[in-house]
Amino acid sequence: MNKELKNDHVVTIKDFTVDELEIIFDLAEDLVPVAEGKKKNDDLYGKLAATLFYEPSTRTRLSFEGAMKRMGGRCIGFAKPGTSSAKKGETLADTIRVASGYSDLIVLRHHREGAARLASKFSDVPVINAGDGAGHHPTQTLLDLFTIKEEKGDISGNHIGIAGDLKYGRTVHSLTHALSMYDTELTFISPPSLKMPEEILKGLTEDGISYQEVENIDEALDDLDVLYMTRIQRERFPSSKDYEEVARSYHLEKKMLDDSDTRSDMIILHPLPRVDEISADVDPTPNAKYFRQAANGIPVRMALLKLLMEC
Ligand code: CP
Repeated sequence: MNKELKNDHVVTIKDFTVDELEIIFDLAEDLVPVAEGKKKNDDLYGKLAATLFYEPSTRTRLSFEGAMKRMGGRCIGFAKPGTSSAKKGETLADTIRVASGYSDLIVLRHHREGAARLASKFSDVPVINAGDGAGHHPTQTLLDLFTIKEEKGDISGNHIGIAGDLKYGRTVHSLTHALSMYDTELTFISPPSLKMPEEILKGLTEDGISYQEVENIDEALDDLDVLYMTRIQRERFPSSKDYEEVARSYHLEKKMLDDSDTRSDMIILHPLPRVDEISADVDPTPNAKYFRQAANGIPVRMALLKLLMEC
């Protein structure tokens, strides 16, 4: 395969052009039967990925490892830093130097913002940022965009509401950066203390993207094509008192959808895990697409792995 992605590493979603995103989505679509185990594919045979997770994860780690294995590749790594030599004080830079000698690609999740950028400077193999503190989560955004495209036919032309912890939520930072590359209208829904960071809003203004900020989710529901809910990121708050002040800010229930003029084809996304921001009674509605979104993690990450390793 020719090199179709200009960058060797994936640190932020802006490492891709819109054309490159389309290449990933087209390939991911072709790989859905492989992701579902209905078609055999050995394109990653002989390839080894190192998954280095310094923070907890279910979806990102399992879908990267599942994507490798479904395509004939293998994985090494750790799910808890306590089982690695980080526990003995080894620096991230040294761990990356070593892991890059053992593998063909590194998937890194780390609690420190900027960790993936640093890792990319010490690695001889591609580094994928699987979440760096409150910074970025670009592969989550790939599957978010893929799901919007799958469900709505296109990304441009949609009014997208992003609700919850917009200050600490890395998925919404990456998603907003990505949506600024398309023609969308954005509504940010958050408590005043958890607003989208100023520098991201400034970037939207520079890119000519219109947005509004509201606190009440009911104010926004009627106009949306996509509602992207997120969890309040408890682990990033300076104290439990600060967290408790905003902990239960949003709780979407089926009754809210029934009692509002919500568009019948509005889709509800969530990067998951959820805590209590979406009631289980929303799950069976045709609007709820968050489990489908999570499943899309496999074909999208398969496509990315294949392109980065040029297989
Ligand atoms: N969406 C997401 O990143 O989930 P995990 O933290 O379970 O990987």
